[in-house]
Amino acid sequence: MRFQPRPKFGGAATVVFLVTGILAAGIPASAQSAQNSRYANKLAPSVFSPTRVVDLMLDLANLKPNETLFDLGSGDGRILIAAAGRYKAKAVGIEISPRLVAKANAAIRKQGLDGRAHVMEGDLLDSDLSGLANADVVTIYLATSLNEKLRPTLEKYLKPGARVISHDYAVRGWKPTRVEHTDDKHMHLVYLYEMPPVKN
Ligand SMILES: C[S@@+](CC[C@H](N)C(=O)[O-])C[C@H]1O[C@@H](n2cnc3c(N)ncnc32)[C@H](O)[C@@H]1O
Repeated sequence: MRFQPRPKFGGAATVVFLVTGILAAGIPASAQSAQNSRYANKLAPSVFSPTRVVDLMLDLANLKPNETLFDLGSGDGRILIAAAGRYKAKAVGIEISPRLVAKANAAIRKQGLDGRAHVMEGDLLDSDLSGLANADVVTIYLATSLNEKLRPTLEKYLKPGARVISHDYAVRGWKPTRVEHTDDKHMHLVYLYEMPPVKN
């Protein structure tokens, strides 16, 4: 079932925020959101990137101060908190679970980062993602099938030079610029893609 109306992510309001850095005010709510479609499109589990993987992802992204990062399916907000806190970036999350949206925004506030980071509730498959045009870096830790569904949207909106960092799951059809891995026994993979992507 689809949201009615579609959650507004992107567009003028979001652009104004990102420019002014006041991320906490004026982002349109996601309307009826999960009441209707709770988890119909939840295509990735609530397993979060361990700290060492977050560090590897943001290092591989070469994230710089004041750049804008989007975490698509932002979970408990840990990537956003690291990006805004340690890297001084502006960080925006999109998350389907209202519980995780509330949890992440509370953690962001607790860290005093609410001027630089914010999570919006929304379904990645049923939201206006045109705000991605502002992204310097996009992080994803989603199932392969969701990556595949998102790929045309990323190709449509991301500017040349934007980096996409994917934890563990490749984006089929794109050739990564680099692939790194952690050295522990679980060996997490991290893929770096640069826009426009080289197709394979
Ligand atoms: C594997 S977790 C990754 C969380 C975070 N990005 C990280 O790396 O720690 C995937 C997240 O995507 C969310 N998710 C799954 N399907 C989604 C969808 N269609 N739209 C928005 N979020 C979704 C899940 O609720 C979950 O929090």
